[in-house]
Amino acid sequence: MNKKVIIGNFKMNLLPNEVVLYIENLKKDIKSNNEIVLCVPYVDIPYASNIVNDTNIYVGAQNMYSREEGAYTGEISVKMLKSIKTDYVLLGHYERRLYFNETEEEINKKLILALKYNIKPIVCIGSNESLENEINMILKDIKKESINNIIFIYEPVFSIGTGNALNKNEIIDKIKLIKNIIFKKYDEEFNNLTLGYGGSINSNNIFDIVNNDEINAILVGSSSLNEREFANIINLSS
Ligand code: PGA
Repeated sequence: MNKKVIIGNFKMNLLPNEVVLYIENLKKDIKSNNEIVLCVPYVDIPYASNIVNDTNIYVGAQNMYSREEGAYTGEISVKMLKSIKTDYVLLGHYERRLYFNETEEEINKKLILALKYNIKPIVCIGSNESLENEINMILKDIKKESINNIIFIYEPVFSIGTGNALNKNEIIDKIKLIKNIIFKKYDEEFNNLTLGYGGSINSNNIFDIVNNDEINAILVGSSSLNEREFANIINLSS
């Protein structure tokens, strides 16, 4: 089985000193060589990226702005993320769309910038009623050479923060559908796509969901805030 990518999304939680303690504990508790990504608040990134060298833990941002630089008060650019050693960036999370009216056009611009600057994008899909429209808009002008560098996470709105995770078969069906939409768009069958699921994952349901070859990535929200719980999720994903 290929390596999995297990992503924690801390949302607007944990101060720099709390994130440092969290990572120090996580380093001791994980017994898996899967790729672990912690999407922490912006201000925590430099503290986190300083202490993950030589581990399988990587640091991600939860967003970035869709323009490279300029008069956009309060925003954070891709170059700024790069300068503080950000490896990944979460794009198009449902909460960004819900509270900040983020559109697929914006997500697409961000995706183009993340790929240009070599920050690995984790693209959340499932917020739009039509998966096909959503994927086609987000992937506009993205070259086929870049597709294997993108992590796609299917997150149905009704599963985020509700305790209603999809079951393995439902997730696999959606992943196959997403693959087919991407194959159709590019008229090519990619072998190394990274596709995964997010929504109400915890240490009780992870094992059933993740142990198959179709689901290569998992995005965990609230259950990633407790370090022990997240370490359990990671260890059950090996
Ligand atoms: P949840 O959140 O795990 O708390 O459902 C998932 C997410 O928001 O990415």
